[in-house]
This record gives sequence, structure tokens and C-alpha cells, in this order.
Amino acid sequence: MTPTAQTTLTTAGLLERRIETRTANIGIIGLGYVGLPLALLFSEQKFRVTGFDIDQKKVETLARGGSYIVRIPGTEIQAAAAQGFNATAQFEHISEMDVVIICVPTPLSDHHEPDLSFIVSTAKSIAPHLRPGQLIVLESTTYPGTTEELLIPILEENPLGLKAARNGVASDQEFYVAFSPEREDPGNDTVARRDIPKVVGGLNPAATQLASAVYSSIFNRAVPVSTPAVAEMTKLLENIYRCVNIALVNELKLLCLRMGIDIWEVIEAASSKPFGFHPFYPGPGLGGHCIPIDPFYLSWKAKEHDFHTRFIELAGEINLSMPYHVVSAMAAALNQRKKTLNGAQVLVLGIAYKKDIDDLRESPSLTVIELLQKEGAEVKYNDPYFAYVGRGRKYDLQMHNTPLENLDQYDCIVILTDHSDYDYEQIAREARLVVDTRNATRGIRADNIVRC
Ligand SMILES: NC(=O)c1ccc[n+]([C@@H]2O[C@H](COP(=O)([O-])OP(=O)(O)OC[C@H]3O[C@@H](n4cnc5c(N)ncnc54)[C@H](O)[C@@H]3O)[C@@H](O)[C@H]2O)c1
Repeated sequence: MTPTAQTTLTTAGLLERRIETRTANIGIIGLGYVGLPLALLFSEQKFRVTGFDIDQKKVETLARGGSYIVRIPGTEIQAAAAQGFNATAQFEHISEMDVVIICVPTPLSDHHEPDLSFIVSTAKSIAPHLRPGQLIVLESTTYPGTTEELLIPILEENPLGLKAARNGVASDQEFYVAFSPEREDPGNDTVARRDIPKVVGGLNPAATQLASAVYSSIFNRAVPVSTPAVAEMTKLLENIYRCVNIALVNELKLLCLRMGIDIWEVIEAASSKPFGFHPFYPGPGLGGHCIPIDPFYLSWKAKEHDFHTRFIELAGEINLSMPYHVVSAMAAALNQRKKTLNGAQVLVLGIAYKKDIDDLRESPSLTVIELLQKEGAEVKYNDPYFAYVGRGRKYDLQMHNTPLENLDQYDCIVILTDHSDYDYEQIAREARLVVDTRNATRGIRADNIVRC
């Protein structure tokens, strides 16, 4: 065995052993909806975990044993702390980590272009503290090529001159790099987190093997792929598949409304087919950090290859039009009752982008509220998950949660998020007019319900 080959076995083999024996130090950068639960999973498996975040408030909350994500109780943070978990904004501790996993945001700019500034700044924070043999994994959703074209060149500008291991044989002047997409489905309790297979694509086989070993300690199955770009594209395929299918049912819903056919009944009937059909459901528009955003990462990158991603653009067009459809349907329903949207008292039910979660990023409810206000409606909202909605990147509402009482005071109640906590029978009984965008009132027969 050549000296170089021996070194390979030593750095990768050593790290693998540390992973197996739970003595590897795990660093998670970005303690948001993805990073914090991931840190807790590693901690549950007895790893010593350090979380890094530039948000001092989050770091302080975690240091007090508190949580800022509704579905994660403080007791879980305290249990992790007892296991050695701590959070910090000091990036020099990166050098103490064996594995560093990056979970920072990847939003779109105002011009619907990828905003990779968080990945860039994170890479710049890691580079000065890199050491040989570390494994760096990017989890943030992004276009194929980001790991190799953007992340690695910044990491390689490190003071020790370390390089990312590209060949099968790694030297002791190298570090390992992989991409592994996050697949969480917030609010879905039917699949245990452990049972969601983890796709991993390393820059070289050793990096893939190390990343597989790390994730196999917290997930039941790792799915190795040949390159980071394949792993990056896998995540986008999954989200584009959802985005396009949701657009399809949204469009068919509009047609069904004209034809007097109940699209929900159609979907339910089609779902009885035991093969070749997977149900997707229409709604007031797309929300969340992934489906409305990720497809545009690919369409942006495609332009570099003189390629126009028509499915993505068309799906985006249809999905973005849905909040406008909801407002038109409300105006029509009020009109039938000889009322106008202008001056109407409206209660929006549900502001989260999806049922039973505390996340309002890109929520279509925010767009619907803004459109209603533009039309002159007096809008209030109720959502058990949000006591107050202030200002975000794309909205500025400054509204407080309204109690769910005296429902007959509203000219129209619009169901935008079908939280399980709501008593839809009672809402239908007490409201003057209900516009239901989620089929939450299925089975309830009443003249005051308009499904749209
Ligand atoms: N939320 C989901 O359900 C979900 C699912 C799949 C994939 N993703 C992807 O995962 C990534 C993270 O998403 P999220 O929902 O956790 O975002 P988030 O906004 O909840 O959390 C990101 C965290 O990163 C921190 N951060 C930003 N810049 C930083 C820096 N330079 N150094 C350290 N910390 C920094 C922020 O303060 C924040 O706490 C995104 O790419 C997203 O597309 C999210």
C-alpha cells in the first residue's frame, strides 16, 4: 500500500470509526426548521452536537433550554443539552467539529432568482476554521452544481490550503464534501422521521461513504448517488413533481367549477386506482419554503444551458393565480348576496401555509389578505398558531389573531388553511357566508357554503 493510500484509510476510516462509536463531533449550521430538528436527532443518538447560528436570539433561547419552533418542546432542547448540545454564534468552534452540516436558507430574490448569499456567507465562515479530514455536507435546497461550483471554491480559499477530496485516494491535506437534501414534511405524523431515506452524493466515493455513515446513524436508510449534482437534482425533481401536479389539479378545479363537478369527489374516486395515480389537492395557492421556490432554482440554472423549463413556468403561472381566483370567488359569492367586497367584514381562517403547522413562509393567505385589503375589505384573521403577524420579506400586515367568536358579524369567512382544531360544523352553522378553499366543510350541506 502506498503511503498516500494509507493516509486515505486513516482520515476517512478514522472519521467513520468516530461516527460508529458516536464520538464524532457534529456541527449544524443554521438552526431553523431543518437544522434544529436535525441537531436533536443526532443528540438523541448520543452524538455531541454544536449548533451554529447568526441569530443571537435563537442561540440565547436554546441556551436557556427554550424552543422557538412550536412542535419542538423546550424539554427536547433540555434533554439534548444534557447530552452535550449547545448553540453558538462563534464559528471558530468549527475546527472542533468532525462533521459540519449546512442548513441555511435558500430563498428567491425579488426578481425570482436564486439567493445563495446565505450559503456564500456560511462557506466564508467555515473556511478559516477548516481542518483536514472533516466532512462538510450541504443540505440547503439548491440548483444542481451549487456544491461544486459555489461551495467548494469558497471552502478551498482556506488558510491551510486544504482541498476538497476529489479522487478515490485522499491526502491528509484534504477535506470531504457531500450534498444531502432535506426531505422533511412538516405536520406529517404518518411517516417517522427515521423512516425517510436520506439521499447522499459525495464529491468522491469516500465522501459519499462518510455521509452515508453519518446519516445512517439517525435515519434507517441512506441512498447513495454518484455525485452531489445528482443529489441536488433529486430534491428538485421531487419538489417540481409536486408543484406541477398541484398546478394540474388547480387548473382542473377551475374547469370543474365551471362544469359544476366536485373536483374533490373526482380526486377521491381516482385515488381508488391501485396504480399509476397519486392524489394531489387544489388550494388557495402554494406555500412553504420549498414548493413555491425550489422549481425556480432549476429554471434559472436551465437558462445557462439555453433551456426553457416550460412545465415549471406554466405550473408557477397557474399556482400564482390561485389567490386571485379565491378573491374573485369571494367577490362573486358576496355579489350573489347583494354585497360588495369593498367594505365587507372578512375573517380569514388559517394563515399558516399548511394545516397544523406554525410556518407562514410564502403562505397564500398573506397574498389573499393583501388582495382583499386592496379591494377595500375589512380583514381579520384567526390562526391558533399565530398570535400576531408582523412584517416579513414580502408582507407587512401587523395584525393580531382574532378570537373565533360572534361569527355572524362577518360578511364572509374564508377557509384558507384547514387546521384540525377548527369545528367546521359550528363555523358553518354560525357564519353568514363561508368560502372554503380546502374542502374542509366536506360532508356539510348548507346554503351558506361556497367551495372554490
Ligand atoms: N422547512 C422545511 O420544511 C424544508 C424542507 C426541505 C428543505 N428545506 C431547505 O432547508 C434549508 C433551510 O430551511 P429552513 O426551513 O430550516 O430555514 P430557516 O429559515 O427556518 O432556518 C435557517 C437558519 O439559518 C440561519 N442562518 C442564516 N444564515 C446563516 C449563516 N450565515 N450562518 C449560520 N446560520 C445562518 C438563520 O438564522 C436560521 O436560523 C433551505 O434551503 C430550505 O429550502 C426546508
